[in-house]
Amino acid sequence: MAFQSIINLSYLIGAIAFVWGLRLLSSPDSARRGNLLAAFGMGLAIVATMIMPLAGADNNYAWIAGGMIVGGGAGYISARRIKMTAMPQMVSVFNGLGGACAVVLAMAELNHFYQGEITMDTGSLVIALLALLIGGVAFTGSMLAFAKLEGLVSDRFLLLPKHNIINNIMLLGLFAGAVWLTIQGSEAGILLAVGVMLLSLVYGVSFVVPIGGADMPVVISLLNSFSGLSAASAGLIYNNNIMIVGGILVGASGTILTVLMCEAMNRSLLNVLIGGFGGGASGSSSRGAAGEQVAKEVSYSDAAIQLFYSRAVMFVPGYGLAVAQAQKVCKEVDDILEANGVQVSYAIHPVAGRMPGHMNVLLAEADVPYPKLLDLEDANSALKDTDVVIIVGANDVVNPAALDDPGSPIYGMPVLNVWDAKSVIVLKRSMSPGYAGIQNQLFFHERTKMLFGDAKDSLQKLVAELKKM
Ligand code: TAP
Repeated sequence: MAFQSIINLSYLIGAIAFVWGLRLLSSPDSARRGNLLAAFGMGLAIVATMIMPLAGADNNYAWIAGGMIVGGGAGYISARRIKMTAMPQMVSVFNGLGGACAVVLAMAELNHFYQGEITMDTGSLVIALLALLIGGVAFTGSMLAFAKLEGLVSDRFLLLPKHNIINNIMLLGLFAGAVWLTIQGSEAGILLAVGVMLLSLVYGVSFVVPIGGADMPVVISLLNSFSGLSAASAGLIYNNNIMIVGGILVGASGTILTVLMCEAMNRSLLNVLIGGFGGGASGSSSRGAAGEQVAKEVSYSDAAIQLFYSRAVMFVPGYGLAVAQAQKVCKEVDDILEANGVQVSYAIHPVAGRMPGHMNVLLAEADVPYPKLLDLEDANSALKDTDVVIIVGANDVVNPAALDDPGSPIYGMPVLNVWDAKSVIVLKRSMSPGYAGIQNQLFFHERTKMLFGDAKDSLQKLVAELKKM
């Protein structure tokens, strides 16, 4: 009894640490503390779970220790080695592994049930099936999302004609299988459960296949919420409160993020999921090919003069900032300009980069003060009074096709209207398209000038020019 009270108290403290940790994660200033606090909560939950055998539950320390060494070791090594630019891929893999755990736990429990070793009422059976189905979709869906983000497979990998119809048939099959398993109870047998599990794994892949290009943020956050929901279902199977709380927190925050990402893309979730493909190198743009137009270039010295004599300058960071790791030198330019009386701000598009908050994290690392970061709406209102916009490796988030080309796959997505500023300087290496694979007419705009090269290198050259003034 005393052990059970210690476990319950530890779980309660762990749950409070999760919630408070999440709260602290909402600001870059306190995010590190939030992460540590949530990790402490998880550590406490693990220790409390480890003393369970003393409280009477049936556990196996050797298996637990083995799992912790392998899982914890792999997690530690990958977290140490991961490059900042590959963080979204790591998040996808971790989402997938959460789903895989739920599948394994649900299958183990269902196996006991079909072998007649345990009894399960209808409610428990439904919960185990939910963990199996949602976990299966989260697992293979996340693995495909990882492969797409890593560029291991093309965005159109495995895309079949009438793909959405095939997906809907599979979804119906999953639903029918789950209902049949519930009605049949212990009579159904393990084979049908394995069949449903396999179908959920195939559906996970097939569900992510048609989603690509600029719609990837939505699917990543949706899979994140699936992994949380499957963990919560697995927690319900074992009646483990901390798993339920942790799973619900991940599920709820993933769902909120999905809604925010849909808002950022100005698309409904249904539209993203069944609306077909959101990318493709050719796109369906009705505009002329980029090759027919000529983009204007600017020299480092001219760009530096323009910046030096501006009143207001706005940086627009994108994925290229992360690739070039240019955040610190970006801040150096900012410092020189501010010392010269120039007002400097940063426009943060919600899907810039490859994960939610990607730009905020990078700029916080470079000690850019948080109040200088403007969200999409505030940045768009400030652009008319901005003299120079410097685009640092952003592309899709400043593409005017989102506003004026109904044939474009990103049509309808709110973008930063940088062409409203008096002048635009684009830092990128070539005329290559961004993640959505479509050309950007901004590069041929009358007020736009290109500064080709690696963003960090170009900014360092600008610093050198600015220091000469
Ligand atoms: P992108 O549209 O991907 O464009 C990035 C640009 O950076 C590229 O055009 C590339 O051009 C340039 N670049 C790459 N390396 C560079 C370097 N070393 N130096 C200078 N430039 C470099 O980026 P974005 O505007 O941030 O838009 C994000 C896109 O990713 C959106 O389509 C979004 O939907 C998608 N996405 C976002 C997320 C989340 S949650 N944020 C997740 C998945 C997908 P060059 O090759 O010519 O240099």
